[in-house]
Amino acid sequence: MLNWNEETPTSASQTAEADATGLGAIERGGARVSVDDKRMINARADVNQLLPLKYKWAWEKYLSGCNNHWMPTEVSMQADIALWKSREGLTEDERRMLKRNLGFFAASESLVANNIVLAIYRHLTNPECRQYLLRQAFEEAVHTHTFQYIVESLGLDEGELFNMYREVPSITDKAAWALEYTKHLDDPDFQTGTREADQAFLRDLVAFYVIFEGMWFYTGFAQILSLGRRNKMVGIAEQYQYILRDESIHLNFGIDVINQIKHENPHLWTDVFKNEVRSMIREAAELEAAYGRDTMPRGFLGLNAELCEQYMHFIANRRCAQLGLEAVFEATENPFPWMSEAMDLKKEKNFFETRVIEYQNGGALSWD
Ligand SMILES: [Fe+2]
Ligand SMILES: [Fe+2]
Repeated sequence: MLNWNEETPTSASQTAEADATGLGAIERGGARVSVDDKRMINARADVNQLLPLKYKWAWEKYLSGCNNHWMPTEVSMQADIALWKSREGLTEDERRMLKRNLGFFAASESLVANNIVLAIYRHLTNPECRQYLLRQAFEEAVHTHTFQYIVESLGLDEGELFNMYREVPSITDKAAWALEYTKHLDDPDFQTGTREADQAFLRDLVAFYVIFEGMWFYTGFAQILSLGRRNKMVGIAEQYQYILRDESIHLNFGIDVINQIKHENPHLWTDVFKNEVRSMIREAAELEAAYGRDTMPRGFLGLNAELCEQYMHFIANRRCAQLGLEAVFEATENPFPWMSEAMDLKKEKNFFETRVIEYQNGGALSWD
């Protein structure tokens, strides 16, 4: 194992911890890493060695993220500014929804980024997954930048928007629910390696990748994209399309990570634990229904709190299926079938007929 010197921790658990994070003493002349040594969590392999790759799906998502690079400032906000400033441009209901939606995302992007940096990165002991996490962390910074750019462009009250996660109860409830999972893993005494700790790590992955990014964000996207479909706030809608494209990769990465950990550690995925995950998903859908009522007390063309709740049930069941779990709600139709079209930017390049930049940097993905 590792050769520790006087300055390094000496207990077995500290050794394992330093080994897993990649911060342990360098093992001079140690055996080279083989693919079989690589593991998602509690790995024996050197976390600083990307090659040989084991999880090609993680590397593929890193490359897809790079190919999808975009910046919010490349999207023109002229039409949005004109509409926001005109009296008849938007109804009061649309304005309330838009502001609360922006307020929810403005804080949520940093909660997700904090979770990657402070909770996930340390305990995910695989370099190709960590490479993706670094890319994702940057994308979350780009998303936070988007909300700064929108606030500045429209001249919104920045204090109101960036404090909404503390001041609007349905937004606070969601943020507080998720934050507990980050806090638990950020405890300096927390380390993976026991069934309890490894399940806590899985819970955090479910809370952020499946629920925060994979459920809650989707109602938010549907709200803004439905405005865009009616030719309202087309700049913001275009930015949300780019965010949605990024987030769908974040979600799929999270699902792959969870399923791979399950595959390598079947003892963690007990019936009790599966039911716990299903309860988390059910509870999250209820929190989302409250947010829907808060942001859309009356509803407007093609969108209201009931439809959003139905959409959340549809999405929740889909997430369960992706994790190999039984559905938590009765089977329901997707009330927003156009959301899947909005996710395919290449096909819907001029969806909102604003200036669209082709961000794909050429070079198809190839895995041979
Ligand atoms: Fe994001
Ligand atoms: Fe994300």
